[in-house]
Amino acid sequence: MTQKRFVHSTKIYSRKLLKLQADNGSLESGLNVIQQIFTEERISWERVAYYVDNYLFPQDIRDRRILDVGGGDGSLSLYIHIVRGSKVDVLDEYAGHGGASSNLEKLLHRLERLGILDIQVIQSDVRKVVIPSVSYDCIYTRNCVHHIFGRKISRDSDVTTTMALFYDWLVPGGSLVIGEVGWMLVWRLIPPLCRRLFPEMEYGRKSSYRRWRLCAEMAGFVFADVKWYVPYRLRWYRNLLGNELVNTFLTGAYVLRMRKP
Ligand SMILES: C[S@@+](CC[C@H](N)C(=O)[O-])C[C@H]1O[C@@H](n2cnc3c(N)ncnc32)[C@H](O)[C@@H]1O
Repeated sequence: MTQKRFVHSTKIYSRKLLKLQADNGSLESGLNVIQQIFTEERISWERVAYYVDNYLFPQDIRDRRILDVGGGDGSLSLYIHIVRGSKVDVLDEYAGHGGASSNLEKLLHRLERLGILDIQVIQSDVRKVVIPSVSYDCIYTRNCVHHIFGRKISRDSDVTTTMALFYDWLVPGGSLVIGEVGWMLVWRLIPPLCRRLFPEMEYGRKSSYRRWRLCAEMAGFVFADVKWYVPYRLRWYRNLLGNELVNTFLTGAYVLRMRKP
């Protein structure tokens, strides 16, 4: 696998074939290998598929150029690349803010094992990276922006500055998709329950989708839609439960979609 650095802390993986020489000498498809990796790492393939296919990208994204901001270990990106057929780049600072810095090694190891890839891993703070204008059809970010812009400790003007970067990197008609958890969750008002159900949630940092929407609109985006996440185990009731009110009794998670006109 060729790997080179350019600009600052950028790595490129140039293999394009999704094939791997398996232990038994036969060629396995990348799909089998990634499923095997998920099984070994106890990541639910079904839950990743459920989230991506129903919330992040219900539409066809084959051959789209996509940037995953705060992509961590790349689980979503690998699924999107391998199963949905997009060209994905992963951007993450890997500095331990909201995710283990060892996720960089983990992702690189996965890429090595898969023997792909056409995936570019960009190690940088999203606020400082230099990316050419009009590079992507879509930018998505899951559970990342609240680590950078905590609700009680950051200014909307700083959020808007980063949204303006996203705007610049997208093609006209491109979309910005933000998957986050809000702070309006009924269980957190009952401290013993909150500690038990969500022991690691930092609600002081979480923001409602309205904050991201407003800042994105200030940067020039237009609102497309917001989807209210229904947990996988309740997936059969998605149509019934996928609204803002019920969401405050479930996980508080949502996916906001903005569009560059
Ligand atoms: C909770 S993890 C989410 C990982 C992945 N998106 C997911 O949903 O599994 C948050 C990620 O955001 C990254 N991150 C935090 N601040 C960042 C920044 N300023 N620039 C780029 N990435 C950042 C962290 O390194 C971490 O990998």
